[in-house]
Amino acid sequence: MSATQTYMFYRGYALPTETHSEESLKFAQEFEFGDDDVVAVTYPKSGTVWTQEILPLVLNGGDLTPIQTIPNWDRVPWLEEKRLAVVVDQLPSPRAMVTHFPYHLMPPSFHKSKAKVIYITRNPKDVLVSSYYFHQMAGFLEDPGTFDEFMEKFLAGKVLFGKWTDHVKSWRHTDLGDRIMYITYEEMVQDLPAALRRFSDFLGCNLSEDTIQKISEHCSFKSMKANNMSNFSMIPKQYMDADKSPFLRKGISGDWKNHFSSEQLARFSAVIMKEMEDENFSRPWSL
Ligand code: A3P
Repeated sequence: MSATQTYMFYRGYALPTETHSEESLKFAQEFEFGDDDVVAVTYPKSGTVWTQEILPLVLNGGDLTPIQTIPNWDRVPWLEEKRLAVVVDQLPSPRAMVTHFPYHLMPPSFHKSKAKVIYITRNPKDVLVSSYYFHQMAGFLEDPGTFDEFMEKFLAGKVLFGKWTDHVKSWRHTDLGDRIMYITYEEMVQDLPAALRRFSDFLGCNLSEDTIQKISEHCSFKSMKANNMSNFSMIPKQYMDADKSPFLRKGISGDWKNHFSSEQLARFSAVIMKEMEDENFSRPWSL
């Protein structure tokens, strides 16, 4: 069996059919959010799988059982993907999910609930690089072409979940008030215990410093790379080929410097800056 590179269209977004279906997207729209639910929201390649490690540990006082026994995609499922319907009844309370949906695609019940949101932003230049390698290793995604070609697709929003700028902006203009916490991938890389304290405070978990340190060790890039429940090693090679590029690839900030020419940097920054010019957007990286 080989992976198919077919896509479906959903409200203007092209999504791979290996992971999404009409049924899964209907399931997401009809999903009943509860007040205790927690959802981590990301533009793809911004640290989604990282939160699938962090959330169960933070929500369960550092209990390692979920991250050692349940694959990441079932432990903290994607709202929009096929697995949610399969595992939804087994999710412990409080339920934790992830989604790549922009704000306007969130289901009606989400808006009526008090579910909490953690929105993670990553430097779009590193998102592009990470996505470029992901498209090479994931057999169900179309070949990215050259880095230059892929950059143009990214800037035009002809990639998973559209333009990075639209996604980030959509989640900055919400009426969620204190239901949403913003954090960056870069802050998490720079000081994971500090980031975990923010997760814990926001989710009302009251974790001790010892527990924060323990969770930090288990969520490190090195630990996750060695965790077969989180490193996608259980996925057959035709779907994800770690020989082409591991899913947990580098886990650093600034790898874009190894990939962008000065022309590409100028072009990329000009487009992103123009699209973000009306936003008062502080970030720990320069565009
Ligand atoms: P790189 O390709 O730059 O290494 P997503 O889960 O949203 O698809 O994001 C994947 C990116 O998050 C990859 O980036 C991956 O290595 C990185 N990542 C996952 N776990 C991480 C961790 N514990 N520490 C740092 N980066 C991590």
